[in-house]
Amino acid sequence: MSVGSAAPSAAGARSADTSKLLSFYHSPVGKKAVMAITGLIGAGFVIAHMLGNLQVFLGPAVMNAYGMKLHESPPLLYGARTVLLIALALHIVAAVQLSRMNAQARPKGYAKWTPAGSSYASRTMRVSGPLLALFIIYHLLHFTSGVAHPNFHYQDALHRVPAPYENVVAGFSNPVVSLVYIAAMIVLMLHIHHGAWSLFQSLGLNHPRYTPALRSLARAASYALLTGNCAIPLAVLAGVVK
Ligand code: HEM
Repeated sequence: MSVGSAAPSAAGARSADTSKLLSFYHSPVGKKAVMAITGLIGAGFVIAHMLGNLQVFLGPAVMNAYGMKLHESPPLLYGARTVLLIALALHIVAAVQLSRMNAQARPKGYAKWTPAGSSYASRTMRVSGPLLALFIIYHLLHFTSGVAHPNFHYQDALHRVPAPYENVVAGFSNPVVSLVYIAAMIVLMLHIHHGAWSLFQSLGLNHPRYTPALRSLARAASYALLTGNCAIPLAVLAGVVK
């Protein structure tokens, strides 16, 4: 068999695969799957990020060394940033497209809107999602670029490596800033809690044994995030971390 005759059929199979993948993405289930996968990437990041941030309780040397380590490996840092950015963008785009699809599917001429197809969870997601997006923008300007931080410190000014310990302490010494973070952490907890709920619901994951266990795990993770993240501004305000 000649190579020339095999090539077009391989290309044809590839294009059939691509069009199958695209039509899956264009379906509501495909978009929900994208939201689920990118949501899990985001949740994994916030859990790892919280564990890193909790090192603030171990003092400036440990926390700043951890920050330095992250910045010392540009492929790791920029690789992780790229994955996160793509996941966040896909999550937002799929969310907007899904809510448009839901709005179009709703029968026209409803005198009174009844949340028949949309659960309490999915409605809170539409509020908590945009609030979290605003928080992420503020947070990056606050602790990453320092633009929104009145007293931003670098541990290596030449290479622009921030000093996370000093930045967290100086940032949270302002009670208004701490309150904004605590409010954002409550929104994050609701988003993850309800996100997990709609994930099981919309993907039809209804295994009698595993679904309740996975839901409890998602609930525990959202409470752990709330507790661990709020402990940081509260400890700074109480003078425990200074
Ligand atoms: C009390 C809670 C939090 C604290 C104390 C905190 C602290 C920090 C600090 C100090 C940095 C800068 C690290 C550095 O460049 O040295 C940072 C970066 C970042 N944080 Fe947070 N964070 C918190 C919660 C969150 C949450 C809830 C999210 C997401 C929803 C988040 C997303 C990010 C992202 C995306 C970055 C940029 C990472 C990078 O440099 O690529 N953070 N955070």
